Amino acid sequence: MSTNIKVGKLQEGLKTRLVGKYIFFAKEVASTNEWAKGLVELGAPEGTVAVAETQTAGRGRLGRKWISPKGGLWLSLIFRPTLKPSETVKLVFLASLAVAEVLRELYGLKAETKWPNDVLVDGRKVCGILSEMKTVGEKVDYTIIGIGVNANIDVEKGFPEELRETATSIQRALGRKIDLEELFRALLEKVESLYQIFLKEGFVPILEGWKGFASFLGCHVEVYGDDERFEGIASDVDKDGMLVLELRDGFLRRVFFGDLSLKVKRRCV
Ligand code: ATP
Ligand code: BTN
Repeated sequence: MSTNIKVGKLQEGLKTRLVGKYIFFAKEVASTNEWAKGLVELGAPEGTVAVAETQTAGRGRLGRKWISPKGGLWLSLIFRPTLKPSETVKLVFLASLAVAEVLRELYGLKAETKWPNDVLVDGRKVCGILSEMKTVGEKVDYTIIGIGVNANIDVEKGFPEELRETATSIQRALGRKIDLEELFRALLEKVESLYQIFLKEGFVPILEGWKGFASFLGCHVEVYGDDERFEGIASDVDKDGMLVLELRDGFLRRVFFGDLSLKVKRRCV
């Protein structure tokens, strides 16, 4: 069993045609998203993957630092679909769904999706997704989808204290290490199959799958950013990926994920 990623072995047995046709591996990079951007600017095609053992400047949403010790799966995927900038959020849903399905299928974990970009296990963050894009006029030139999965990480040793309550890892949830290359391959295969569905049938089946794992739906939540704060029942996520909040006065408010985060105030049954 390989608890580390080894160069050269990543593509062995990989059953994809697009995603992972070209895989770039490094022991250490600043950020795989940054690296993938450089690769696409040099001509790397859609489906190219950049993966690293550790990141020294891993990026989270909203300018946050993403802690990326050895044992995690830190990767970025290059996509070039015909989408408007506001639609690239759909690829974040696709990636979250892929991670949740793989964690369920490979390890039997009850992985859940949380709007807008998280995958949770036992109510804690096991994976975060960061999308970044380049636009030309009104069109998206390319989108980088960065996926960070806390895989073989001893949370007590590998994470700073402030993360130990909110974050978890596959290792913590299972009480054992997993084969990182197996997870990597399963994830790429899942992303490819969901991406093909997305290209043929659109966003609806992706969203439906994602909602099927979204335990926060129906819960009392708080959505907040630097200048905004809403509270209400998370009643739905609409066809554009916007959260539909039912406010206290019964009005519905749609919120675009932009600069916002979501906190579940009470867990729901
Ligand atoms: P988001 O807005 O991305 O959903 P959040 O504000 O809801 O994040 P949490 O989901 O609780 O916050 O994430 C915990 C915080 O720790 C975030 O700021 C996240 O970026 C940060 N963090 C850094 N590295 C990690 C990691 N490896 N695993 C989990 N969280 C991490
Ligand atoms: C978040 O939840 O805030 C998003 C975290 C995204 C982390 C991944 S790890 C691979 C890729 N490279 C980065 O610098 N960030 C993403």
